[in-house]
Amino acid sequence: MEITTRSVAASHQYELNLSDGSAHYRTVSPPEADSTIFRHGRATLHLADPFAWLNACEPRSIQAVVTDPPFGVHEFKAFEMHKLRHGIGGVWRSPTHLNGHRRAAVPRFTVMTASDHQALQAFYEEFGRLVARIVVPGANIIVAAHPLLFHIVACTLVRSGLENRGSIMRQVTTLRGGDRPKGAEREFCDVSVMPRANWEPWLIFRAPPEGRVQDNLRHWGTGGFRRESAARPFNDLIQSSPASPFEKALAPHPCLKPQAFLRQIVKAVLPLGTGVVLDPFAGSGSMLAAANALGYASVGIEHDPVYFKLARAAIPELQNIECGKTTTPSKR
Ligand SMILES: C[S@@+](CC[C@H](N)C(=O)[O-])C[C@H]1O[C@@H](n2cnc3c(N)ncnc32)[C@H](O)[C@@H]1O
Repeated sequence: MEITTRSVAASHQYELNLSDGSAHYRTVSPPEADSTIFRHGRATLHLADPFAWLNACEPRSIQAVVTDPPFGVHEFKAFEMHKLRHGIGGVWRSPTHLNGHRRAAVPRFTVMTASDHQALQAFYEEFGRLVARIVVPGANIIVAAHPLLFHIVACTLVRSGLENRGSIMRQVTTLRGGDRPKGAEREFCDVSVMPRANWEPWLIFRAPPEGRVQDNLRHWGTGGFRRESAARPFNDLIQSSPASPFEKALAPHPCLKPQAFLRQIVKAVLPLGTGVVLDPFAGSGSMLAAANALGYASVGIEHDPVYFKLARAAIPELQNIECGKTTTPSKR
């Protein structure tokens, strides 16, 4: 039996299939062309299926990719999003309190099965194949991943023809992990099931350059990283706070990444500061906001009409924030 739910986004109705966990929305009343595109500054955001968009994209037209995809894919399936939005639990652990801190809902990747891992691999096979086609030689492709799953992502993307260029370690203190065995906390009070998570890998790939790096830089404007300064190269260990309450209030997406971190990597991915940066899983549009703050051209894709609407409001605000600001914005 097909179970569906409807939501209104960008003043149009969408219907979402809950019976098979399909992450795809179908339009009930066709939106006008411009309601699926949002432009602000040098950023363009599309309400679209990222795979369909990548498939239709001009080959060799993108100079860099910075993206934060669904780490395990299953957590953003329609039925899990439905549960998250209605507080019914599921893969997204319900918010709990620890030492007086309210924990945000986070997806649990420890419960993934072998078939979930196969689905993740299939997702990245498709992603890698499509991305390898649309980027120029020497393009940097940065993909956020999870410590439990990045080996699958990295191996799969390398098989798609991208070069492995290491990873950026986002050093971030979280409240994830470190818990005592559930239901036996007192008995095993000196035991943590998993270490407390303090880092997040952002995997670095590169489209094979044509010839030497200097040749590729001259011809395509890509092949390396923009230095932080004349004295300091771009570094692969970046200390980062979680997104501040100020940013979260502007962009209430469950996976919002902070501007202070994103601006550093977005700046670095275009070695000469020219070209277009793509985020196929744009969420709140935080990568596009970072690109606007840097004066870079960017394109984002978001398939969820609720997040697309959120991003339309958030991009103009996020791009203007001063990094490090922590107060909550007044109600607009
Ligand atoms: C981790 S979030 C990105 C959050 C973003 N970095 C931010 O700061 O707001 C991933 C996004 O990809 C979208 N997404 C998830 N699964 C998808 C799928 N299978 N196909 C297309 N888009 C998907 C989700 O709607 C979600 O907004």
